[in-house]
Amino acid sequence: MANAPIPVIAGNWKMNCMHGDGHALANDLAERMLNRYGPPVDVAVCPPLTLLGSVAAFLSATPIKVGAQDCSPLTMGAHTGDVSAEQIANLGAACTIVGHSERRRDHGETDEVVRAKGEAVQRTRMSAIMCIGETDAERNAGKTIEVVTRQLLNSMPETSHAGNLIIAYEPVWAIGTGRTPTLKEIGDVHQHIRDQLFEVLDYDGYSVRILYGGSVTADNCHDILRVPHVNGALVGGASLKIDSFWKIIEAVPKPDEVSAPVRAPA
Ligand code: PGA
Repeated sequence: MANAPIPVIAGNWKMNCMHGDGHALANDLAERMLNRYGPPVDVAVCPPLTLLGSVAAFLSATPIKVGAQDCSPLTMGAHTGDVSAEQIANLGAACTIVGHSERRRDHGETDEVVRAKGEAVQRTRMSAIMCIGETDAERNAGKTIEVVTRQLLNSMPETSHAGNLIIAYEPVWAIGTGRTPTLKEIGDVHQHIRDQLFEVLDYDGYSVRILYGGSVTADNCHDILRVPHVNGALVGGASLKIDSFWKIIEAVPKPDEVSAPVRAPA
């Protein structure tokens, strides 16, 4: 059996934190990470753009990666208010979230727009954390797999490989609500995403990290992180408090605790 990829725990700070509390949070996390002994884990924080440069500079001496929450698909020019992936990478960011459901909802971002943003991120050698997930209505209509497949295949840049693509499965109805799917439901969707990644990327699809996101907490993370093909978590609310975010990092399983059956590409 192949080794499961190293899990990722990424904190999405959304439109939260001023200079003081954002830097205090980064500082607390750095102290704990630098003193940590535990199973391998990639930790990232995605602060608002106002803090990205200073947090990235501060964390550059630590193993913690920093990411943005969005970017323009364009490179430069007359686009007031937009920020390019090149500008984000230039601040020291290692990854950028694209296609978060709050952007799909608030800014009408389509799969095509998300793909263009993902391409821009990968062009700069950052990793794209690409979010997909069904709404409550889609779930109630039994369309979860259909929606997730469509978003995955239409939003995924052609330049994707395991080194520059991370998928985040985030059911829209679970984000910030305290509601989560059952472990079986999470496992079924992640297995399906894995199968799709195999079809597109061949064996490299096994190494793409697939994160679960949506109301991950210090209490439910242990079980969620042990579902096959869950390779970490994208954490919103619980990433804003060092104690809850740290518990999630500490809950990452040892490599021999997870088994994810490998299926040959079709
Ligand atoms: P939540 O947000 O953990 O607060 O539900 C997750 C996300 O939106 O990435």
